[in-house]
Amino acid sequence: MLYYKTKEEIELIRVSSLLVGKTLAEVAKHIKPGVKTIVLDKIADEFIQDHGAKAAFKGYDSYPNALCISVNSAVVHGLPGNYELKEGDIISVDCGVVKDEFYGDSAYTFGVGQIDQQVQKLLDITKESLYRGISQAVSGRRIGDIGEAVQTYAENAGFSVVRELVGHGIGRNLHEAPEVPNYGKRGKGTLMQSGLVIAIEPMINMGRKEVVKDKDGWTIKTADNKFSAHFEHTVAVQKEKADILSTFEYIEEVLKNNK
Ligand code: MF3
Ligand code: CO
Repeated sequence: MLYYKTKEEIELIRVSSLLVGKTLAEVAKHIKPGVKTIVLDKIADEFIQDHGAKAAFKGYDSYPNALCISVNSAVVHGLPGNYELKEGDIISVDCGVVKDEFYGDSAYTFGVGQIDQQVQKLLDITKESLYRGISQAVSGRRIGDIGEAVQTYAENAGFSVVRELVGHGIGRNLHEAPEVPNYGKRGKGTLMQSGLVIAIEPMINMGRKEVVKDKDGWTIKTADNKFSAHFEHTVAVQKEKADILSTFEYIEEVLKNNK
């Protein structure tokens, strides 16, 4: 069952989603060699609480943290811990918040210090694949149009698309129908109409598409141990153009000043 949102509900999802963007920017300020990922989780959790919201992942399926932090070959659902970031790592930070009963969800993959040129290309292509997907989130199009756009773009660049994890509807729940795969066929899948709110979240691998779950019970990693990137926005389907409710603006302002 699809829940179409009213204008007012979309504004509440926007507030939550913008807070996610601000939280990720706060985290971005602290990403450097020598920092433990658990420290980033603490910073995010406190920042979210200070803004009158709740970290959405904490307690979801008994997930223990505010953030999912997935380093290098980790794709998603990495657990913050005592791992110390080092130059050349990439770190995918996924954050959700709930405020006034509505959820927002967004993710960004950061380089730590100088990163390999091919790894930078992975980040650039994954982010652009997200925007290619978003360009299809307009009324009258189908979920498969999003997947096809992401997949075509990522595969043409020589990368592969994770199949086992998908984007999702979002609103009063973190995960609602429909599922939003990052692969698919144009014209297939659920028809989208204005007011549908979805999280689009391509997970793109440098090597093969296969993934495995780590023995920690949470972390999804690439089977071939090559790097993987993840970017996510919460977007409202609209007539001409999707309304992107989350933002990377605050994050990229921090990254610019870090250079
Ligand atoms: N951000 C993830 C998603 O989009 C949710 C993390 S799973 C959790 O589906 F258990 F950690 F919450
Ligand atoms: Co999500």
